[in-house]
Amino acid sequence: MASDLVRFTVAIPQELLREFDQLSEKRGIRTNRSETIRDLMRERLVEEDLSNPDAEVVGSITMVYDHHLRGLSQQLDEVQHEHLSEVVSKMHVHLDHGNCLETIVVRGKSSAVHDLADQLLGIKGVRHGKLVCVATEAH
Ligand code: NI
Repeated sequence: MASDLVRFTVAIPQELLREFDQLSEKRGIRTNRSETIRDLMRERLVEEDLSNPDAEVVGSITMVYDHHLRGLSQQLDEVQHEHLSEVVSKMHVHLDHGNCLETIVVRGKSSAVHDLADQLLGIKGVRHGKLVCVATEAH
């Protein structure tokens, strides 16, 4: 809300400001300096939240795995059954003849979610994978 806004003055090298404005322009969506700086501050605060292992997070684990490797999908399911409280939902896509893609929506304590991702992505036959987390705290 506008009434919550405070103004403050920042001293910044000219060149840094010029590069910053160029970046904002490249992003295209916001050319308003204030809005861009607010976004960056929020981004940094969220990063800080996520670095706390006790933080509550939501996110997704996306992975591509070998469809032909015997027992692999059962193994992936077993790990998820051991993490019932973190697994929210899953989408499976049969990518091509030999590859499956799965995206698992996860939520819970950051440490537990990372543990689940490490276990899944470490299984033999999982070719690529990534956990993406966002904080649930608003800034
Ligand atoms: Ni499949």
